[in-house]
Amino acid sequence: MAHAPLLLGADHAGFALKETLKTALRRSGIPFQDLTPVFTEGDDYPPIASRVAKEVGRSGGLGVLVCGTGHGMDVAANRRKGIRAIVARTPEDGVIAREHNHANILVLGGRVTTPRRAAAIVRAWLHATPSRAERHVRRVQQLDA
Ligand code: RB5
Repeated sequence: MAHAPLLLGADHAGFALKETLKTALRRSGIPFQDLTPVFTEGDDYPPIASRVAKEVGRSGGLGVLVCGTGHGMDVAANRRKGIRAIVARTPEDGVIAREHNHANILVLGGRVTTPRRAAAIVRAWLHATPSRAERHVRRVQQLDA
């Protein structure tokens, strides 16, 4: 688990799911910081993803981004060097993203994933450990080479 608070960000299409995640995180005692605490109708995902990605890069912690599908946040966050953002639809996706790809941002789709499923994905991802297997470390290093 990361030591820095989990950084959260969502656009209008991900806002409601992000709010339900906050309740689940509080229940689990997981500290977080919401970088988009105010709902803004029609807001755009690129600047939100960029802000969370920048903070994750700076803090060395982890982040969760939510838009309608997860796709927009994913492509936007991955434009920053050192960011490995992965869309997860199942807890298994979350585990593999963290273990094999050392995902430092988990991306969810507010229009396609239920609150219960989203909380399970975040839990699974947070509890997974980045693999130190030589092949996984080598591949992750190649991403920023
Ligand atoms: C917003 O309508 C929606 O397009 C956005 O949240 C996201 O799903 C884009 O990938």
